Amino acid sequence: MSLRVRKGRIEILDQRALPLEEKWLPVQNLDEMYHYIKVLAVRGAPMIGCAAALSLAQWRCQNPYADLDTAVARMRTARPTAVNLMYCCDYITQQCKASNNYSAAHITQLAFDLIKREQQMCLSMARHGASLVLDGENILTHCNTGSLATIGMGTALGVIRQAHRMGKKIHVYVDETRPLLQGGRLTSYELSKENIPYTVICDNMAAHLMSQEKIQRVFVGADRIAMNGDFANKIGTYSLAIVSKYHQVPFHTVSPVSTIDFDCNSGRDICIEERDMNEVLGAFGTKWTPHGALGYNPAFDVTPIGLVTSMVLDSGVFTREEIQEGRLWDLKKPAHVDERTKI
Ligand code: MRU
Repeated sequence: MSLRVRKGRIEILDQRALPLEEKWLPVQNLDEMYHYIKVLAVRGAPMIGCAAALSLAQWRCQNPYADLDTAVARMRTARPTAVNLMYCCDYITQQCKASNNYSAAHITQLAFDLIKREQQMCLSMARHGASLVLDGENILTHCNTGSLATIGMGTALGVIRQAHRMGKKIHVYVDETRPLLQGGRLTSYELSKENIPYTVICDNMAAHLMSQEKIQRVFVGADRIAMNGDFANKIGTYSLAIVSKYHQVPFHTVSPVSTIDFDCNSGRDICIEERDMNEVLGAFGTKWTPHGALGYNPAFDVTPIGLVTSMVLDSGVFTREEIQEGRLWDLKKPAHVDERTKI
C-alpha cells in the first residue's frame, strides 16, 4: 500500500525513494498530488486513479464552491497513458452530475467506493490468474504491478502473490525495467516482503533465459486496453511479448475492467507518454552519457493482441481468440461507469 489517509490527511509512500527509504509524504492539495503523480512518487495505473479521486475529495473540502469540472480537467492531464486516471476522474464528475450532489462528503464517499472496488478487483484477478500457474514454474514479470501500483494486492504481481500463497513453488524473474527501475527497485521490494523467491535480470536478458527454458510463463499489467485487445504497458512489454511468442512461453496480461478504454478502438489510438530524455541518459542524479547526447524516452509501448495468450480480468480469464471475437464489449454495460463501481 502506498496511499493512506491518516487523521484526515492524505499521505503517499514516495516510490522514488524505495527500496532504500520508506518515506511517507503528506499531500496538502490538488497541485501537490498532480506533481507527485507526474514525477512518479505515486505511480501504477490503478493507483494514480485512486490517488486522483482522493485528491479531488480533499480539494472539495478546501474549495466548497469552486468548479469541479476545472479541477477534474487539470487532474486528468497529470499523465496521459493510464486510462484509470481518466476513469476515476470522470466517474466522480458523472456521479456528482447524476445526483446533483457536489458536496465534499459525496466526493469522499465516491473516492472510497473506487478504492474498495479496485481492491476487490485485485483479489478476483489474483484468483483467476493463479489458476493458470503450475507448481514449480519460473515466472517472468515486468515493471511493478503490486500493491504499490494498485492499492490492492496487485494485477500481475497479485497473481504471483496468490500462487505463492496457495503453496505453489514458484520462482520470479524480475525485469529491472529501465529507465526508472520499477522492477529492480519496487517489485523486488514487494517480493522480499513476502519471502517470494526472485531473481532480478536486465530487460535484455529475457530471450536468452527463454532459450534456456528457464521461464515457463509471463504475467504483465496494462495501463490501457483498447477494444480490439491491444494494450499499452511499460516500455519493454512489447519486445517481451515477441520473444515469448517466439519461444512459445505463455504470455498473460492482468488488469481490472477500469483499465479498459471503451472509447479506444485499437492500440494505434493510445497516447504514449514521452518523458524527459535525461531519465535515459543517466539515473538518480548520475549522467553517464557525453555532454550533448540525445535520448528518447517513450514510457510505454503497445502490445498487439496477436501476441497475447490470454487476458486475466477481474471477471475471468479470456483467451486471445475470445478477445479477438469482441468479448471486451460484453463488459460494457449501458451505463458501464456506474455499474463497474457498484459495491
Ligand atoms: O510509469 P509507471 O511506473 O506508472 O508504469 C506502470 C506500469 O506500466 C505498470 O505495469 C502498469 O500500471 C500495470 S498495472 C499496475
